[in-house]
Amino acid sequence: MKEKYPSHDELLAIGQKYIANSYSPYSRFPVCCVIVSASGKTYVGVNVENGAYPLSRCAEQIAVGAMVTAGERQIREVFIYSRADEPATPCGACRQIISEFASSDASLTCENEKGVKLSFSVAELLPHAFSLKAK
Ligand code: THU
Repeated sequence: MKEKYPSHDELLAIGQKYIANSYSPYSRFPVCCVIVSASGKTYVGVNVENGAYPLSRCAEQIAVGAMVTAGERQIREVFIYSRADEPATPCGACRQIISEFASSDASLTCENEKGVKLSFSVAELLPHAFSLKAK
């Protein structure tokens, strides 16, 4: 029977495929983010830059948007694929955007094309995240 959640190799294959669609002509820094939701589905985003630079969007923001648009609200795992020497970790804004939809122990893996991996929990990347939700 097929596992409910994708394996690391499946996430890597998605990252390797979709990073080619990154629109990053200004930074030349392509990123692909694959989100695994609680249901086990995957949602993909790549960074989409703009000639008016501040309008550029990170891969994580696009992936979160795809998940929410599909009607899901719970992130189980985040996989971020880049070609940087040191695997790209999410920027501060993206850490907050991820934390809106992830429990503090949800896992993030950042990997580059050389296979270097960094792993974190959401709480490690954004301790004391802002939340309007009553605890
Ligand atoms: N970027 C992402 O999409 N995600 C990250 O985790 C780090 C940075 C993008 C933003 C911009 O398009 C390019 O990478 C360089 O900063």
